[in-house]
Amino acid sequence: MTVQKGQPQNYVGQRVSRVDGPDKVRGAATYTAEFDLPQLAHAVLVSATIPHGSIKKIDQKAARAVPGVLDILTHESEGMKLGPVKAYPRGPAGTSVLPLQSPKIEFRGQPVALVVAESLEAAQHAAQLLEIEYDVRDFRATLEQGMNGLPLLDKLPMPSLGHSRGNVKEGLKEAASTFSATYDTPVHHHNPMEMHAVIAAWDGDERVTVYEPTQWMQASQHTLAAMLGLEPDNVHVISPFVGGGFGNKATTWPHLPPVVLAARKLGRPVKLVLSRAQMFAAVGYRAATTSAYSVGLDGDAQLTAMTLDAQLQTGPSDIFPEQVGNIPKMLYANPNMELNYTLIRTHAGPNIMMRAPGEASGSFGLEVLMDELAEAAGLDPVEFRRRNHAPENSDPESGKPYSSKHLLECYDRAAQAFGWEGRNPEIGSMRDGNTLIGWGMATATYPVYASAATARARLCADGHVEIEAGSHDIGTGTYSILAGIAADSLGLDIGQVTVKLGDSRLPKNGYSGGSRTASSVGSAVLAAAMGLREELTEVATHDSASPLFGVAGQEIHPRDGGLYLGDTDQGEEYTAILRRLGKDQHEVYRETIPHEGSQKQLDQLKAGKDGSVAAVAERFARHSWGAVFVEVRIDPDFMTPRVSRVVGAFDIGQVINAKTAESQLTGGMVWGVGMALHEETHTDDRTGLILNSDLAEYHIPVNADIGSVQAIALDHSDFRVSALGARGAGEIGIVGTAAAVANAIYHATGKRVRETPITLDKLL
Ligand code: MOS
Repeated sequence: MTVQKGQPQNYVGQRVSRVDGPDKVRGAATYTAEFDLPQLAHAVLVSATIPHGSIKKIDQKAARAVPGVLDILTHESEGMKLGPVKAYPRGPAGTSVLPLQSPKIEFRGQPVALVVAESLEAAQHAAQLLEIEYDVRDFRATLEQGMNGLPLLDKLPMPSLGHSRGNVKEGLKEAASTFSATYDTPVHHHNPMEMHAVIAAWDGDERVTVYEPTQWMQASQHTLAAMLGLEPDNVHVISPFVGGGFGNKATTWPHLPPVVLAARKLGRPVKLVLSRAQMFAAVGYRAATTSAYSVGLDGDAQLTAMTLDAQLQTGPSDIFPEQVGNIPKMLYANPNMELNYTLIRTHAGPNIMMRAPGEASGSFGLEVLMDELAEAAGLDPVEFRRRNHAPENSDPESGKPYSSKHLLECYDRAAQAFGWEGRNPEIGSMRDGNTLIGWGMATATYPVYASAATARARLCADGHVEIEAGSHDIGTGTYSILAGIAADSLGLDIGQVTVKLGDSRLPKNGYSGGSRTASSVGSAVLAAAMGLREELTEVATHDSASPLFGVAGQEIHPRDGGLYLGDTDQGEEYTAILRRLGKDQHEVYRETIPHEGSQKQLDQLKAGKDGSVAAVAERFARHSWGAVFVEVRIDPDFMTPRVSRVVGAFDIGQVINAKTAESQLTGGMVWGVGMALHEETHTDDRTGLILNSDLAEYHIPVNADIGSVQAIALDHSDFRVSALGARGAGEIGIVGTAAAVANAIYHATGKRVRETPITLDKLL
């Protein structure tokens, strides 16, 4: 696993524990809600209790009478006007519908007021006393209502997102057999441990500091600047630790601006922490989808054609398509493909990306479909996928070669580790006593989004190195990954490297999502650290008083906090080189352009956009690959499925930190089990109320739900993606896993469930 010639590899590729772990365990890592500022006032958000209509009247009298109440902001307050912003993906806001601008209500849980008080208790009490009268209008709260209901909201065909190649009519006509089926996925909610929170503190009327847990500080910075008419440089966002994001902390949500406005009005800092129920209402969700497939197979069980007509739920005003066709359009060799999307508007709030948006939900349908086709063809599910494997030199979607593809090796490695050869294909044939055992598998893939990135490396007088990047650690291990890259580049102990993230004044970086941070920001840190090493080498080799004077740069290796000639003791410590410079610190700043990118991505980054190159780039299609194998155990009397084993093998490029990468892959697979068996948001279609907006009723796996989970990372660097050879680990683990569980359940029981979650009522 060579990252760069002549560079130590004490950390990159190794199992490195989190450098921020001790602080997190001790409670010394400060999350947004834990910051305390002098004169801090506390806010509570009041949310709409109707799904559609308008506010008729707000009676504030009782609320205002609560001792300690400082202010109540509503759409009737003065100075509420905000400038327009665009919703993602056109802009970095979660929604373009700004809060407290009008009496209009378009989803249940929409912010309608902000109560600010001296104490949290006073604000909570007053919020309950606010009397709001509404005019209720007709509505559709769910995808089902949207598909079948009155023509109240739009159904939007999305031809620009579709895909077409070959001739599906011909392909289906030529087929030896055809098959059609429809697969459904429900609404899911992100449930990070840490709630959304914000503290706003003004310095005069033109400069504001905002503490917020975010996956994209620049989004908050630029959207708040646009809303408030400020210079982006005057919006300072601080986000040192994020307790999980999964996509719902990536864009700016409407609870932010009222807090910022309240702080300006009151002339003191204001803090707001959302409740778990509010997390379900107004910071995005994974939309429900339904995917109708028709496919043809030839006599060798190879795909001749595929059509996918998908209906995707979206919110009432903006558009975020949950693109279930991302994987079906590219994963298997198939000459004839037709993909069509229709968006269905619902009064269910704006939806947004959630871990592997499109891929997690879309892989469920595709990979259950593949299992059904394999069975119809009388083939082992792995063999069936091998027959339809798309070769490395030709991405079915674009015709371009892949940057690197070792999917067949993923099948081999995972199957071997799982013991797949012991599988009896007959349904219900495998048992442990009375318990039914089922084995199923699925393919995983996830695209590469590489971004422009910037970083600074600074050698300090005591010999330690500071790395600065305006990026984020959303719990994934960014601090540790970047520290390891810098330590290896400079021959330092990892304890000699301090990484600073989570401050918008640090070198600009983009969105921490789409599994891009380690490879993108890591490349910038690699460049900055290597740049620092080169400049220090230059100083030493050109100073006649240095033991390295006149030595050729390429002979010099970094180790033990200094530079040395090969393996010899001839050399000196960085602190000595710094003294030669006559400075107490020396810093290097670097900007990196992603592979197959240009200055354009860097310019976009600096303008507050994400500055990414698409997965299908000019020369190569870039994806990660994987295979997931699952064992379920089912009591035949109660039909309660339990996942006893999961084995996944993943081709994700160079692994930068084996421990945190494994943790990402494992977490993704655990989530896939939850998607298969537990997760579903229930919305009452009579009231628009989310019925399970807490962790007692919204089921996610606990330890007892998960048996053993094994993540295997293949060892293939991909230098067509990043200077580190890394692609990304954050999202691919969830892809395919839910289908593998469903396929295992079928193998055990003969029950083919084409929707998630697969609860016992669907198996009885
Ligand atoms: Mo991820 S859904 O790109 O935060």
